[in-house]
Amino acid sequence: MTIRKTAVVVLAAGHGTRMNSRLPKVLHPLAGRPMICHLMSTLETLEPERQVVVIGPEMQAVAEVVAPHPTCVQSERLGTGHAVVAARDALAGFDGDVLIVFGDTPLLSAATLSRMLDLRRSVAAPAVVVLGFRPVDPGGYGRLVVSNGEALEAIVELVDATPEQQGIGLCNSGVMAIDGSRLFGWLDRLSNANTKGEYYLTDVVALARSDGLSCAFVEGPETELLGVNSREDLAVAERLVQNQLRAQAMATGATLIDPHSVHFSYDTVIGRDVVIEPYVVFAPGVRIGDDVYIRGFCHMLGVSIESGAEVGPFARLRPGASIGPGAHIGNFVEIKNARVERGAKVNHLTYIGDARIGAGANVGAGTITCNYDGFFKQHTEIGAGAFIGSNTSLIAPVRIGDGAIIGAGTVVTCDVPDDALALARVPHAVKPTWARTFRERRRAEKAAKQTSKKS
Ligand code: UD1
Ligand code: CA
Repeated sequence: MTIRKTAVVVLAAGHGTRMNSRLPKVLHPLAGRPMICHLMSTLETLEPERQVVVIGPEMQAVAEVVAPHPTCVQSERLGTGHAVVAARDALAGFDGDVLIVFGDTPLLSAATLSRMLDLRRSVAAPAVVVLGFRPVDPGGYGRLVVSNGEALEAIVELVDATPEQQGIGLCNSGVMAIDGSRLFGWLDRLSNANTKGEYYLTDVVALARSDGLSCAFVEGPETELLGVNSREDLAVAERLVQNQLRAQAMATGATLIDPHSVHFSYDTVIGRDVVIEPYVVFAPGVRIGDDVYIRGFCHMLGVSIESGAEVGPFARLRPGASIGPGAHIGNFVEIKNARVERGAKVNHLTYIGDARIGAGANVGAGTITCNYDGFFKQHTEIGAGAFIGSNTSLIAPVRIGDGAIIGAGTVVTCDVPDDALALARVPHAVKPTWARTFRERRRAEKAAKQTSKKS
């Protein structure tokens, strides 16, 4: 096998009209990141010498997302062959294998692409290798015209196909590996004399054959070759990606009691012997250590949870929440930009924002860190072993010392020293028998009213 260099061209200049969106199609997210980024990182694992993306003129946002990989602009959308021509300068001087993929085919695997490149590098060295597949519904895909079961003769678009060709089940996924020393010569010879009036990349196969060169195909799985054209397709792709991520989490030692109700992001990191109850969402940037228990209905974004911690049910952990080993975060608790240290407990109905909660501290139900004055965010410090009584408001910036106790219902406005008690209570009156007398008077008044209505 000869080792040749690879360059990759990703075509992403199409309108994506069927998405009905202001966002370019390839920026729609799958598992929390733009679909084109899934493809770009798969392609990176092939370690290509160059990796360029062809975009449309008003797609600066795509260029930013794929940076530092370069982009080329196809100023008019005249077809897939024309789109590759836009990459001519970016591929100047390159004569290895050019792998062409579509930006809206995000589920491609590196293993499938490697099989194509291996065939290009085999002794037979076909000038063009196409990735074919046999979809359950061949619909509008281009068809591969094959002779003797393996020699690829041409690719015909459905709209240009004869009735006999329309009956072919082997379809074009759009992925091609092409001899880079000849590619642009063929592209210069493309014609747009076809039903759509476009310069089809697929016609490169017939041109290679007319030059007496051989072309071949490999078959890939339909699940990898799904092209995302509509929001329905996007939902199908999301489900496939989620299923992969769920399988990965379970393989690395997490128990998912109901896998289908747990939603991961592309970058979620889950440790061993983690248990995840149903209906949990891991938005991007979440790291979970070993032996963590996550109860149902939690949402997490940009969070780290260390070993042995327990979270939920119904917890919302926002960016910068850092939950220490063995800490407990309970129901209806929201935590943002705050460190909860080892063994601390925040168990019920609480908002903790911009804070540090020391090891072993206990934060009572209904505690609120009042961290925002409408202009600035302020920090709250709770010392190790402190006890914050229920329904406490902590007006930041404020520091509660180690081992301090805050009486329930206190509004804390200034720092509390270590081991001190802070307590704000309005004394209340207790009036014996008042409640009974009140009820008797009200009952009598109600009875009198009803009698006067009847008479
Ligand atoms: C293309 C193939 C078809 C294949 C199908 C697989 C051709 C002529 N047809 O058809 O054989 O079965 O994909 O999904 O190649 N693009 C540009 N510039 C353009 C036109 C397209 O960058 O001027 C990009 C699009 O953004 C997209 C890709 O090329 O990523 C495919 O274009 P699309 O119009 O979707 O091609 P299909 O008609 O689906
Ligand atoms: Ca398409």
